[in-house]
Amino acid sequence: MLFDGLKPQAPDALLALIGMFAADPREGKIDLGVGVYRDETGATPVFRAVKAAEAKLVETQSSKSYLGPEGDIRFTELLKPIVFGAGADTSSIVGVQTPGGTGALRLAAELIASAKPKATIWLGTPTWPNHPPTFSSAGLTLATYRYFDQAAQHIRFDEMMDALNRAETGDVVLLHGCCHNPTGANLTSAQWAEVAAIVGKRGLLPLVDLAYQGLGGGLDEDSAGLRMVMEAAEDVIIAYSCDKNFGLYRDRVGALYVRAKQKARAELILSNMLALARPNWSMPPDHGAAVVRTILEDAALTADWRAELTSMRERITTVREALAAGDSNFLAPIAQQQGMFSLLPISAEQVATLRKDHAVYMAGSGRANLAGLTLKTVPKFIEALKAVR
Ligand SMILES: Cc1ncc(COP(=O)(O)O)c(C=O)c1O
Repeated sequence: MLFDGLKPQAPDALLALIGMFAADPREGKIDLGVGVYRDETGATPVFRAVKAAEAKLVETQSSKSYLGPEGDIRFTELLKPIVFGAGADTSSIVGVQTPGGTGALRLAAELIASAKPKATIWLGTPTWPNHPPTFSSAGLTLATYRYFDQAAQHIRFDEMMDALNRAETGDVVLLHGCCHNPTGANLTSAQWAEVAAIVGKRGLLPLVDLAYQGLGGGLDEDSAGLRMVMEAAEDVIIAYSCDKNFGLYRDRVGALYVRAKQKARAELILSNMLALARPNWSMPPDHGAAVVRTILEDAALTADWRAELTSMRERITTVREALAAGDSNFLAPIAQQQGMFSLLPISAEQVATLRKDHAVYMAGSGRANLAGLTLKTVPKFIEALKAVR
């Protein structure tokens, strides 16, 4: 039978952790697994502005007829000043709505493969575990370099630069725009400048994955690196997710943008993006992008969204500072990192002991979603970490 040729696939380890956590009866258990924002009560709430926009949509939406493979054009337009900066020249940036950041990455991979089958894409390791299969399943060739030293908790910038110096003209370089997943270790402004310079000099094609804008240093701060790369590079691909910064995870909201140096090339690229979207998802799911559009069309809703995003970011920063202050030797680097994640310098065995003996749940790699902590639970977490070291 045809399906006998299939090989069994391991279930997603992080999703399996959700089930284990739910089944754990211990009081005070701590979930640092799945990468969603949590507030002080452990909830992942719907943004106030999202609720208001949804109510408005129920009232005003008059049709659910098909849009097209480009999705909601107003959504991709209204998002541009947030991603590229208010007042930025976006005339040679084309964009389509995608099912989440994952859809944007997948479409980017297929666009690259259409232009050059088996093109090489450079990934720093560790990276988001969904990156390698997304690119390799589209036929791209993966090349890797070590990005982060987990034990010493610093970026291996020399190795990154060495890799970019070895890359060939036309190779693609994946860059985390902000809030690096899984390490939280982001390039400094000076390092971004060096990366931008080498990308420009060697004719590399940057693919910037911007999935957490606003959760690191602020909306503009978190796309500063992208903007530097755009100054230096010929063409740039941007895979964007609204799923974290609008809290719309399951509604699957994202966009794929390409900035082509030559305007004529931008149109050619757009026609290919649309042709590739059609046999994939035909057109993206509407609701989440319609919510984002409704927020961005309304000054008051936009201000409220920004305020709520700011308070989320500040809460994460407060937790990071409390951790670093509570164990100033072991956890000091956490305060320098940004976003929800840190890759703690602990082994898979220590992660297992944390789960078994202390009801602290995190990925086997040592990635912790720090948004799963509160100022109340930080001391317990620090004690648990000390006990397993
Ligand atoms: C680095 C990175 N890129 C992209 C995504 C995709 O996000 P989504 O498809 O949920 O919008 C994620 C989600 O975890 C991520 O961590």
